[in-house]
Amino acid sequence: MITTQIENRVLSICFDRADKKNAITNEMYLAAEKALLDSADNSDVRVVLFNGAGGDFTSGNDLVDFIKNPPKDDMPPVLRFLLALARYPKPVVAAVNGLAVGIGTTMLAHCDYVVAAENARFKLPFVDLGVCPEGGSSLLFPQVMGHSLAAELLMLADVFGSAKANQAGLLNEVVAADEVMPLAQKVASKLAAKAPNAIRTTKAMLKKSYLEQLEARITEEIHSFAALLNGPEAQEALTAFMEKRQPDFSNF
Ligand code: COA
Repeated sequence: MITTQIENRVLSICFDRADKKNAITNEMYLAAEKALLDSADNSDVRVVLFNGAGGDFTSGNDLVDFIKNPPKDDMPPVLRFLLALARYPKPVVAAVNGLAVGIGTTMLAHCDYVVAAENARFKLPFVDLGVCPEGGSSLLFPQVMGHSLAAELLMLADVFGSAKANQAGLLNEVVAADEVMPLAQKVASKLAAKAPNAIRTTKAMLKKSYLEQLEARITEEIHSFAALLNGPEAQEALTAFMEKRQPDFSNF
């Protein structure tokens, strides 16, 4: 589930499903979207802080949900969440401990300040699942980190650490695991104390030249993702996950 809390004008949104490494279900995407939409015009909230329960950020989209509840229409929950995040008008901070897989990594490119643990692990497993990148990463990653690193991370899909995520431009600070949340809270409080209209205008200006393009790409990616999810490569990858084995793409 998603748990939320407002304290000192900071809205914490926590991926709170530790027994499944905080894998995100459709229900959780909708709850997170609602938290973002509800807080956008709420003057009690000046900053959002994303974090995860139980020592991990998130293991990404719930793979069982992919099988049971694949995207059915043009506006599936994951797309609604991503668009709400991309359009969110106030600063977004992320506190990343442990695993940040799939959308757990791509959503960092939408955050304004990311604190990660030295031992955090990132992974963009899309191709290994027979699908394509999401979260606007096919647009944002080459811009932020250059084509070669974006291609490496998105095509090889290997696990990488905070040093590489930092080199890729996804992080602001790398600290010891137990310092992640305190530092993220400190940064969020600092941002929450600043002139709110000045901050909102600054964020709007920072994104003005590419937001429209980003929204279109996020939407296109999810539609391609959904189409691939119905295909044989994804079916093999998801079956392999359920059977706790490596996928075999040799026959495609
Ligand atoms: N969706 C659904 N369940 C997930 C999940 C996910 N994305 N990630 C982890 N889980 C579940 C596991 O199935 C396991 O459930 P079980 O205890 O009922 O068997 C539990 O969470 C713990 O995961 P486990 O695999 O035992 O932990 P680990 O530390 O060995 O490995 C991961 C963690 C994240 C590396 C591994 O679980 C994994 O690769 N998950 C899939 C990640 C993924 O592809 N996400 C989709 C991105 S689009």
